[in-house]
Amino acid sequence: MKTYHLIGNLKMNPVSRDAVDRYLDMLRHEFVDGLPEGVAITVAAPFPYLERFASGLPEGVGLAAQDVFWEGEGAYTGEVSSAMLRDLGVSSVLVGHSERRRYARESDDDIAKKAAAAAEAGLGVVLCVGETAEERASGREADAVAEQLGAALSGVPSVHARRIVVAYEPRWAIGTDRVPTPEEILSVRIVIRRAVAERFGHDTAEAVPVLYGGSVRAVSLPETCFDAAMDGVLVGRESLVPDEFGRMACALSERATAGGTVPDIDRI
Ligand code: 13P
Repeated sequence: MKTYHLIGNLKMNPVSRDAVDRYLDMLRHEFVDGLPEGVAITVAAPFPYLERFASGLPEGVGLAAQDVFWEGEGAYTGEVSSAMLRDLGVSSVLVGHSERRRYARESDDDIAKKAAAAAEAGLGVVLCVGETAEERASGREADAVAEQLGAALSGVPSVHARRIVVAYEPRWAIGTDRVPTPEEILSVRIVIRRAVAERFGHDTAEAVPVLYGGSVRAVSLPETCFDAAMDGVLVGRESLVPDEFGRMACALSERATAGGTVPDIDRI
């Protein structure tokens, strides 16, 4: 059976311990009968509340951080290492999110160092890539994504390649309620597969999951995930709504357990 990935990126939310506890109560309620089959669910929580999430997430839901620093320890004011994250029960980390590129001015080189350090420390790495509206308007989306991915993967040793998940998040689709067509998503997925294959070979490229992110809702899963042959979704706003997040998990599970209906990208 195929396993779909459902990752909620809570960004800079919720904003208090009480709000975190309310969110976790509702999320546990959503999954009170256990997690649906065929879906790997992860929540990427803000640093100050990681420990609260580690103890409060429903059984079986993975915990991710939203950023990490490349050094292991030392004089790096404000930074957080992979070892610290692992110590708190974190199993994966988002790297290169467009909001980090934009607000924290993260460069491809920073992102490459973060991806390499996190993978070497044993964390799963959700590597975010995606073109701007201008790049898409000028037909440069494939080049933009291939360049970001090539740079980001350059430092990751092959032995850790299977710790990578790629999330394709067109910047113009984040927080806008605009989504690409399935054909547009699929064509970038093929670019991603090729870039991963160039770095790590075909077998690994087939094993590296590719997710779509940007204005995903349960009702848009057919276009953003299934018809585009994606391996799951990275969800922002709607992951803050536990019953909507639960609906997405159920829809992904239904698709996974239906079997035989997953488009095979190699035949497209
Ligand atoms: P939205 O789902 O709110 O558009 O955010 C997507 C995102 O940035 C997930 O990382």
